[in-house]
Amino acid sequence: MDLFKFEHGREGYYGEFGGAFIPEILRSPIMELRQALQAAKDDPTFWSEFVALMKTYSGRPTPITYLENLTKYLGGGRIYVKREDLNHTGAHKVNNVMGQGLIAKRLGKTRIIAETGAGQHGVATATMAARFGFECVIYMGEEDVRRQRPNVFWMEQLGAQVVPVRDGSKTLKDAINEAMRDWVTNFDTTHYVLGTVCGPHPFPEMVAWFQSIIGREAREQMIQIAGELPCRVYACVGGGSNAIGIFQGFLDDPVELVAVEAGGKGLQSSKHAARLASNHGSVGVAQGYKTYFLQNEDGQMLDTYSVAAGLDYIGVSPIFSYLAQIGRVRFEAATDEEVVAAFQLVMKKEGLIPALESAHAFALALKEVPKMKPEETILINQSGRGDKDIFTVAEALSDKNWKEFIKQRAKNYES
Ligand SMILES: Cc1ncc(COP(=O)(O)O)c(C=O)c1O
Repeated sequence: MDLFKFEHGREGYYGEFGGAFIPEILRSPIMELRQALQAAKDDPTFWSEFVALMKTYSGRPTPITYLENLTKYLGGGRIYVKREDLNHTGAHKVNNVMGQGLIAKRLGKTRIIAETGAGQHGVATATMAARFGFECVIYMGEEDVRRQRPNVFWMEQLGAQVVPVRDGSKTLKDAINEAMRDWVTNFDTTHYVLGTVCGPHPFPEMVAWFQSIIGREAREQMIQIAGELPCRVYACVGGGSNAIGIFQGFLDDPVELVAVEAGGKGLQSSKHAARLASNHGSVGVAQGYKTYFLQNEDGQMLDTYSVAAGLDYIGVSPIFSYLAQIGRVRFEAATDEEVVAAFQLVMKKEGLIPALESAHAFALALKEVPKMKPEETILINQSGRGDKDIFTVAEALSDKNWKEFIKQRAKNYES
């Protein structure tokens, strides 16, 4: 399946979804970006340069780990995990960011802007900017600044300016709006590093291309390590970049692809971010593209909620709206409660610390794997590591010792 073979005049469309709904003023940078992406795709040295950079800078290929303890504990199918958490900066986000850094260099840009939710994309972007010598500004919802303070600290230490966005729900969608506003004013010098497979064409195509490195590796590794392809692949979906990254390795295989959205406090509540797994999403156009959004009847965006800041977004990749519509990807949701329980189980049984986002994929996979046969295998994408979530998890678990530690620290700062 070639998702990026567009019909003439329908460039950037995945079925009825996608496109580039942009103000006239953004036409020029968008056209410039489309040309640069095409030139990079046509240049066989570009992909090798990207792979070499990821190998020497980020530690790729990331391994696949067999979860023997959990497999025995749960019974049913065998569980394998793709370890995107082992990338430099701790998540898959760095794949896309380093790729876009190479594109920005080709375009002769000197300044980089980005939006971030959980902060992983922001840290990756600030890291890339430091490495390549770009000036760097990161937009982040004020609520996410509060939830993900350790990542804000790192971005600032890496030399980036972090701008808290106080509009709307003060989360990812508001940060994207603010980054777009900056881009409109400064595109001569500035490249906008969008962090997921959303936004106007060519962003979904470009981000999916860089993230396809996950699936390319994973397919080969499963054949080497497990001796066969997995029956199912699970990945969490915020915008959809880690999921489309791993799924691209298996699109043409008889492998079931399962995408897990944030079920928050439950799909019956209004506190979730499940655009496709709930019946609350509807088709609309916002932030430059057409897809399923959580919006009211007037097209006003609703507030979303998830314990995982990186999944707390109102839109889903247009590529996924299409893949869900044609039945190639199954969409499900996991609640915060299920996610925290899965997170604890994976830590206790396997010594892995997944990001809360990735723990959504674990939550569903671990629920389904006992119903599978022992000769069947599943692959879970561990999109990132959980260090950044220490405050959120300690709070969710109401950890007594952690509370004491915070109180003590606060007291030290008072004097
Ligand atoms: C570790 C991790 N996984 C997943 C996501 C969700 O994004 P996406 O759906 O683009 O992979 C994020 C977003 O910040 C993240 O930090």
